[in-house]
Amino acid sequence: MRYLLGLDVSTTGSKALLIDETGAVVASHTTPHDLSQPRPLWSEQNPSDWWAGMAAAIKVVLGQIDDPGAIQAIGLTGQMHGLVCLDARGEVLRPAILWNDQRTQAECDEIHATVGEERFIQLTGNRALTGFTAPKILWVRKHEPDVYARIAHVLLPKDYIRFRLTGGYATDLAGAAGTVLLNVARREWSDEVLRALDIPAEWLPPVHEGPQITSTVSEDAARQTGLRAGTPVVGGGGDQAAQATGVGAVKPGIVALTVGTSGVVFAPLASYAYEPEGRLHAFCHAVPDQWHFMGVMLSAAGSLQWFRDTLAPGEDFGPLTGEAASVAPGADGLVFLPYLTGERTPHPDPLARGAFVGLTARHSRAHLTRAVLEGVAFGLRDGFELIKNSEAGIIDEVRASGGGVKSPVWRQILADVFGVPLVVAEAIEGAAYGAALLAGVGGGVWPDVATAAERTVKLGERVEPGPHAPDYEAIYALYRDLYPTLKPAFDTLSTL
Ligand code: XUL
Repeated sequence: MRYLLGLDVSTTGSKALLIDETGAVVASHTTPHDLSQPRPLWSEQNPSDWWAGMAAAIKVVLGQIDDPGAIQAIGLTGQMHGLVCLDARGEVLRPAILWNDQRTQAECDEIHATVGEERFIQLTGNRALTGFTAPKILWVRKHEPDVYARIAHVLLPKDYIRFRLTGGYATDLAGAAGTVLLNVARREWSDEVLRALDIPAEWLPPVHEGPQITSTVSEDAARQTGLRAGTPVVGGGGDQAAQATGVGAVKPGIVALTVGTSGVVFAPLASYAYEPEGRLHAFCHAVPDQWHFMGVMLSAAGSLQWFRDTLAPGEDFGPLTGEAASVAPGADGLVFLPYLTGERTPHPDPLARGAFVGLTARHSRAHLTRAVLEGVAFGLRDGFELIKNSEAGIIDEVRASGGGVKSPVWRQILADVFGVPLVVAEAIEGAAYGAALLAGVGGGVWPDVATAAERTVKLGERVEPGPHAPDYEAIYALYRDLYPTLKPAFDTLSTL
């Protein structure tokens, strides 16, 4: 039997996933790691914690097989956009600044002013957002000149794991696009953006397609992990591209909907396109020569988690969401805005706030729960609408995964609000599974990513829009009006 290893350095832990050549999961282990928020808006982690956790997780999964030499290749994935700064000897210069760090608004404005917002979106497929990597580099230059002066290499989180595993500097195109330093159409670093921002091109690692072999496990890493030295490591992909790969969203027409803490609508593209206002992200896919559009909602299942923890502590999600089934669509005139941690798509606004609009004394907890489930579905539909009206083409299938779609009530609300059938994808192992599939292509187990997905991805229930679907149109129209109406209040609230 041949095996593949997917490694995912996420915000919450370092995970190693071992699958076999039929796609079956052999072993999975995650070492949790902490998040540090030393100041308001900051979010940091220590790259050495990621590596220690990953080495431990790899050892655990290797315990399930006799011969680590049977591992054909390793695929990397992880949290996108994080900034890891290394000196010339490969030493970490400061804690990594993560994707959910919000300190860089001034630098985002500076980037737009320097490159020109329209040109920047055209080249990189995105607006500069606080979470992305490029503004973080400018922040370090301005606020930590001593650190900046010693930088020799800039890496993304998963590429730091690659560095520790192989000794080599490399990245994948999906992750590289998330730095907003890439010419996304040409799949190479953008000289124009680098020059305009005065960032040295030699700091950036060479870029590779997702299944392409970048390097091999070093003797030193082999000693630390139990892996066989010389095992190939492929490019891999940012967590969203890898997650989409793991549910088979690897060709245009198949859209991946992920309802995790954040919510994502992901549509593969056959050629580069960008949304002129930058409301959707346009990145390279982990599938060679494909791109993708992506809408990101920051608090999807995160909204329900907040609601449960705050208003129904100790309640299980099953019974809580089950209660919502007793309430009619529209929650008797109650609408929830899910912007609990600001928003990205379609309103890139860190100051956006959550709201219940229309509360009356008649509303019960079940109404509030239903409103939360519907509000998240409306927010995700905003991203879906942008994608439907984009170059993504005809959508044949929406594949849903993530904790949120475990709830039958929520699944039905999503199908009704989107007005299309949803196919539930078994994606318990998330992005690590997609990374393992990319490894399988690079390691010669499957000829290409589409074949890897066809042979392995397991699809479950198909949820058709029900008789209530048309009822949602008027409520969705109202939902869309609420953000612009409340925006001045959100802005004022942030100053109080
Ligand atoms: C994608 C994004 C998150 C992070 C953390 O744009 O910001 O998915 O990668 O998971």
